[in-house]
Amino acid sequence: MNQDQLKQLVGRAALDYVPAGQILGVGTGSTVDCFIDALAASGIQIPGAVSSSERSTQRLAKHGIKVLDAAEVTRLAVYIDGADEIDGRGFMVKGGGAALTREKIVADLADQFVCIADASKLVQTLGAFPLPVEIIPMAAAQLTRRFAEIGGKAQLRGGVVTDNGGHILDVTGLSITDPLAFENDVNQWPGVVTVGVFAHHKASVCLLGGADGVKTLK
Ligand code: 5RP
Repeated sequence: MNQDQLKQLVGRAALDYVPAGQILGVGTGSTVDCFIDALAASGIQIPGAVSSSERSTQRLAKHGIKVLDAAEVTRLAVYIDGADEIDGRGFMVKGGGAALTREKIVADLADQFVCIADASKLVQTLGAFPLPVEIIPMAAAQLTRRFAEIGGKAQLRGGVVTDNGGHILDVTGLSITDPLAFENDVNQWPGVVTVGVFAHHKASVCLLGGADGVKTLK
């Protein structure tokens, strides 16, 4: 199976976690696109979804799935999203699709984070994938220097403006051995909107698609 087929496989597997009759949190990315398509085809009835991006909102709406504002809910049972990297503890790097801020906001509403990913996303240590950081544009140079102080090389993602009007720095050269401490630390830096380390909002369960089918990591 190629990577696209693995994404479709885990997209379908995630249907087992959809709480029928309840509002669902929906992430962003090509794997989530597969999940949204599978959800629409499944016949599972949900009253609506809280979306983490304009991209997912459009796809949900195209399928006739009602999209609710995050302000309309106080709690979600489940949030389903992809990842750029995930380690054996459920800590993730996210934001390859520049939706990390809204993803963290919707994940924060949810009791359970179900991560769907192909097996290439499983890593020992986070940091090989360039770490996305959403920033306030005027802080770009300052934050680039701060990342350099900890061994990171930050590059502005050209031509990208997030759904929130922010910019994205992609940071290479990091080895994130303590994701919780890293997230705490970088989140304090003025100009950082959201760092793409999901440690406080780690996956509760990960459905990992590989040659042998879907493995469930808890
Ligand atoms: C978007 C994300 C995505 O979940 C992540 O980039 C994985 O994307 P894909 O499913 O396309 O590989 O964090 O901001």
